[in-house]
Amino acid sequence: MIIDGKQLSAKLKEQMAEQVVELKAKYGRVPSLAVILVGENPASQSYVRGKIKACEVCGFESILITLPESVSEADLLAEIAKLNDDQKVDGVLVQLPLPKHIDEEKVIDAIALEKDVDGFHPDNVANLWLGKPCIKPCTPKGVMRMIEECGFNVAGANAVVVGRSNIVGKPMAKLLLDANATVTIAHSRTKNLSEVTRSADILIAAVGRPRMITADMVRPGAIVIDVGVNRDSETGKLCGDVDFEAVKDIASHITPVPGGVGPMTITMLMQNTIECFLNRVNK
Ligand code: GUN
Repeated sequence: MIIDGKQLSAKLKEQMAEQVVELKAKYGRVPSLAVILVGENPASQSYVRGKIKACEVCGFESILITLPESVSEADLLAEIAKLNDDQKVDGVLVQLPLPKHIDEEKVIDAIALEKDVDGFHPDNVANLWLGKPCIKPCTPKGVMRMIEECGFNVAGANAVVVGRSNIVGKPMAKLLLDANATVTIAHSRTKNLSEVTRSADILIAAVGRPRMITADMVRPGAIVIDVGVNRDSETGKLCGDVDFEAVKDIASHITPVPGGVGPMTITMLMQNTIECFLNRVNK
């Protein structure tokens, strides 16, 4: 069965749009998200367009700030400071990656904790790992929502996450652990990778290598979630980390690329923006 992230996203955004009408009536304003895009990376431009469009669909206010590739770190930090101080803004997101002359860590640290809709701020990360209330990173949060949609009982299941990035792999493992899965993080140095992945009831691919998860690496009946967004070097088309055509007949559930995790990431960003809005108005 194919888990349709696009359809699930559309349903969740519709629900949020209804919620926003109530929020407006109760608090006199709607949630507001500010997005900063530096440079002209086509993938980043496309992601940012998707985020701004989702704000429209949900009835949020949005602010898009585009800065040239040559912008100085100081000027970018100044923009963030302005948005941090703007009482009408609930969420601040700086699209990554940033140009090499800008220190990404410094930029993430500069976003006010209460407006960190990505959940990348070190205090958010600490709270996640300590089991305290926090904003959860959008991609792993969306993956959990998709697994929930399968009606699968995560507690006690073997979950294998392939990839250990700060944005996906590591927080993904923590959310699965919180749902009482037995979690393995595999990566480029893992020995006997296929053996490890074949032990998975839930297999999450977040590596960034086109079709590296092949049919022989998947246990029959497993849930397979593909976080990869790659360009096929031959066709130029988008493809995931999973060999979809071969794996779809083995897995019980699988996510496509595009139309799987991608739309859910953006939808979870909208949920996080509402969460930040509510934290702020109820402070
Ligand atoms: N670049 C790739 N994924 C993300 C994300 O989730 N948030 C931000 N800010 N940048 C990204």
